[in-house]
Amino acid sequence: MSQQQSTNQRFAQFKLVLLGESAVGKSSIVHRFVKNTFDDLRESTIGAAFLTQTITIPESQTTIKFEIWDTAGQERYKSLAPMYYRNANAALCVYDITSRNSFKKAQDWIKELKKQAPEGIVISLVGNKSDLEDQREVESSEVEEYVEEQKNDGCNIITAECSAKSGDGVLDVFNRIGRALPVDRVIDSRQGGAASGTGRRGGGVDLNRAKPQSAQANSCC
Ligand code: GTP
Ligand code: MG
Repeated sequence: MSQQQSTNQRFAQFKLVLLGESAVGKSSIVHRFVKNTFDDLRESTIGAAFLTQTITIPESQTTIKFEIWDTAGQERYKSLAPMYYRNANAALCVYDITSRNSFKKAQDWIKELKKQAPEGIVISLVGNKSDLEDQREVESSEVEEYVEEQKNDGCNIITAECSAKSGDGVLDVFNRIGRALPVDRVIDSRQGGAASGTGRRGGGVDLNRAKPQSAQANSCC
């Protein structure tokens, strides 16, 4: 990498939370993204798990570090969720394409985020287990209809389908979220910026004064 390229490279750090019914595959998505592994017999998460992963957005020459909170979907842990989404910059509301009920639960999470999460949080609605097409219960037309309703309500939602099992679409979800995040609030770690992209308005410190991204239109509320 040349000196010039290195100077232009920016660094940002964002908190991301995964929400959704138990067994939709939240932990599996995270493990595919972070470790590129999949476990057919993954144990249900207790409380929450924390992992990090970094991606690069070439267009904006930005390296993004995601601080990922993988929450537990079991009902008994529901009251813990606000602790994790309270300072989040992005949320993945995950459902299982073979479970209509999980799609409803994901919509409930979006409703809660609209009321309680930080202003400007980037919300995505992710249908996992796309490898189980023959057992599909949630049609893409229903998802589109729901997202259109939300758009009319002033909330833009990123939608995607993926399979943690095959890996299809997983990286794409995080790349799309990365592009939608406000990299004008970039942290330059080389200058000792310790603050992360948190806080009521997405937080972070504007060190590089980048142009606001059009993709920021994806943020909600
Ligand atoms: P909680 O931690 O209880 O909230 O569940 P979770 O949402 O984290 O689900 P988890 O990742 O533990 O996955 C639940 C089960 O679904 C596991 O047996 C996984 O192997 C399976 N699974 C996860 N993702 C996929 C997928 O993309 N395809 C298929 N076929 N199975 C999957
Ligand atoms: Mg889990």
